[in-house]
Amino acid sequence: MSGNTFGTQFRITTWGESHGPAVGVVVDGCPAGLPLSEADIQVDLDRRRPGQSKASTSRSEEDKVEILSGIFEGRTTGTPISMIIRNKDARPLAYDAIRNTPRPGHADYTYQAKYGLRDHRGGGRSSARETVGRVAGGAVAKKLLAQSGIDVVGYVTELGGIKASIQSMRPSDLRSAAETNPVRCPDREAAALMLQAVEEARKEGDSIGGSAEILAVGVPPGLGEPVFDKLDADMAKALMSIGAVKAVEIGVGIECARMRGSQMNDPLAFVEGTESKVGFETNNAGGILGGISTGSPVLCRIAVKPTPSISKRQRTVDLVAKGVAEIEVKGRHDPSIPPRIIPVAEAMAALVLADHLLRQRSARLID
Ligand SMILES: Cc1cc2nc3c(=O)[nH]c(=O)nc-3n(C[C@H](O)[C@H](O)[C@H](O)COP(=O)(O)O)c2cc1C
Repeated sequence: MSGNTFGTQFRITTWGESHGPAVGVVVDGCPAGLPLSEADIQVDLDRRRPGQSKASTSRSEEDKVEILSGIFEGRTTGTPISMIIRNKDARPLAYDAIRNTPRPGHADYTYQAKYGLRDHRGGGRSSARETVGRVAGGAVAKKLLAQSGIDVVGYVTELGGIKASIQSMRPSDLRSAAETNPVRCPDREAAALMLQAVEEARKEGDSIGGSAEILAVGVPPGLGEPVFDKLDADMAKALMSIGAVKAVEIGVGIECARMRGSQMNDPLAFVEGTESKVGFETNNAGGILGGISTGSPVLCRIAVKPTPSISKRQRTVDLVAKGVAEIEVKGRHDPSIPPRIIPVAEAMAALVLADHLLRQRSARLID
């Protein structure tokens, strides 16, 4: 199975399945000398961890990370950083019912069609457990970015049709406000309604989808490798590679189709108090022009579908008995994915930026 590695210079390979003994990641290409401890990684793993609220699955994993290589006396050595996180709360029997009856909306049928066999327990490698490795690798990327003053923050902007109002909020406030509630929405009033919507869907044996934004501040101008590794192209791939993400927007995104050039273009201006530092009056471009960062915040938006595993009765087929079938999906599932996707999406955006930050160091000779 190929396709488990992401990145060019700063690269991760994730491994492991939902109901195997462990999941993990190998980070390759991280420069030597970065101060790094298990505590740095654990912060984001704790944010991703299931079983923390009614907005997430009740699977209870402590998700303690163990770093196996690549660190000496608290600093990276430039060699591969291997991390393992053990699966402790697997309940494989809950998935017996879907061994031969693929869940609508999940990857059961396509894995079977591709490989001819599959680990059906908890969705195997198509499970959100795989994202543990992304978050651990992303935490290393975030630490590297922090050294250059780059910060990545994610938050929910819409859930079950309820929209947040966040236009007037500063990036630093977005994080603190979002992390105070289980749906990770910075707008407190909207968050309360969203939580209600999650509860209602859960009671009905159903699920809801939503949207989230990922904002990177402090990104210098110049990151991105035209033409095929443009920053926006890599961001789109990174975010779209997360299960359940069905659309990615940069800046105003889809809305640009309804705008005029005079509305869309961000006027250039010198940053106040300087005569040489270029900035932009607006940021419709989402901080990227020609695939290269402009120096404005990089803004991405993702649309996340409703969780496919629902306990409502659904039609499927029995691949062994070769007949039509109905299933009610058992096991423990997130009634809504966006609140849990935030640390994963931040990790993927951080991985892209760390990769391009390192690649930029070999892009020019002229100061
Ligand atoms: C953080 C996160 C949590 C998820 N939780 C669940 C879940 O509890 N149950 C489920 O059926 N799918 C869940 N998913 C979605 C599936 O992994 C995804 O829908 C599936 O792999 C099919 O891929 P696709 O939706 O991209 O086509 C989750 C995804 C993420 C990123």
